[in-house]
Amino acid sequence: MRMYDLIYKKKNGGKLTKEEIDFIVQGYTKGEIPDYQMSAFLMAVCLKGMDMEETTDLTLSMRDSGETLDMSKIDGVTVDKHSTGGVGDKTSLCLSAMVAACGVPVAKMSGRGLGHTGGTIDKLESIDGFSTSITPEEFFDHVNKNKFALMGQTADLAPADKKIYALRDVTATVDCIPLIASSIMSKKLASGAEAIVLDVKTGSGAFMKTLEDAVTLAEAMVKIGNNAGRETSAVITNMDQPLGRAVGNALEVIEAIDLLKGEGPEDLMDDCLALGSLMLIAGKVAKTKEEAEVMLKATITEKTALKKFADFVEAQGGDQEFVYNTDKFKKATLIDPVPSPVSGYVKSIRADEIGMCSLILGGGRETKESTIDLSVGLILQKKVGDRVEKGETLAYIHSNSKEKTEAAMERFLKAYSFSDEKPEPGKTILAFVAPDGKVTYN
Ligand code: URA
Repeated sequence: MRMYDLIYKKKNGGKLTKEEIDFIVQGYTKGEIPDYQMSAFLMAVCLKGMDMEETTDLTLSMRDSGETLDMSKIDGVTVDKHSTGGVGDKTSLCLSAMVAACGVPVAKMSGRGLGHTGGTIDKLESIDGFSTSITPEEFFDHVNKNKFALMGQTADLAPADKKIYALRDVTATVDCIPLIASSIMSKKLASGAEAIVLDVKTGSGAFMKTLEDAVTLAEAMVKIGNNAGRETSAVITNMDQPLGRAVGNALEVIEAIDLLKGEGPEDLMDDCLALGSLMLIAGKVAKTKEEAEVMLKATITEKTALKKFADFVEAQGGDQEFVYNTDKFKKATLIDPVPSPVSGYVKSIRADEIGMCSLILGGGRETKESTIDLSVGLILQKKVGDRVEKGETLAYIHSNSKEKTEAAMERFLKAYSFSDEKPEPGKTILAFVAPDGKVTYN
């Protein structure tokens, strides 16, 4: 087999066989195929696409390029959740505790990642002592005891995806549905959970800008997961404005804890209930969404999810007191209000621009080597549909540098638009994709 022929075949819209896809993925991972040929191939996939069979073969080949985790040591049906990423997305933190409190084991592997805030691991490290550097044995042990544990993603999990993603990042080949679906699902399948629930975000702060593309991506991932023998379903959620009010690492952990205390924002709760219901059904502890929602809401009123989160923090070396007293989180030195320039209703908030503000403040990584300031970020006081008077506070900026506050404030004001008429607030939950592929719009 020659790489040249396979690039040529895809360039002309041909369909690749499983053997051909394996040749490309394994050859590139081992360094036998150079970057320039792989780049040409990825671009051909972006332009000509891949059908479901090719996309599944690509996923499985990337999954098999490294270790896969065996979750059979965990009691019960393990359920994992993955979000395609958005601004203010702290759902994993509170949702995992709620689902675990209902008896479904949540064995999560998370990363750090580049972006406007850190990944789930970075966020949790704002709790003194918290660590995800645990061995797989400790990880299984924690899940069996507490139903909820989090481990850092090992380098050997789907190494092909790691190498291919780095190349996509610099060759304008990220925004391609078969490549995104196979990249995400190769890691999810390698990390071993028996059931997978996907949160596919759509809107200004997401990869998928339109509902149509988000549904197509969700359908592809649901098919791949189920073809690979894992019960997989998806929820399509709105990312046209940040989720909740907090954007930034420690600030998001505090908001997730507030939700577990019954004081969280409504859109975050909607997300947790929609995703959590699918997780409880996949975990075989509830039969219907309605039954699951009742169980999930009870974890908040009865404070069992809060206790679950505190136990999880302690089991991983963290100080439980942070959960019961969020004043213990390190605070930024400067907290400045952003006054509204006009009176009216908030018409829209560009989530991606709010994410950029967090990055400017030092809350995210621009390169793998960047260090994150866990205390900085924003707390939005006004969201879409809210009435605001001129001079009233739109948000508070938490910062450790006057210059960064000024730069973030300038950017922040460009993210908001206003109208005289009250706009209809958009729905948080837009659609569901069931394991059999059936799409239901909300
Ligand atoms: N996240 C991933 O892991 N891969 C992609 O291709 C896009 C988002």
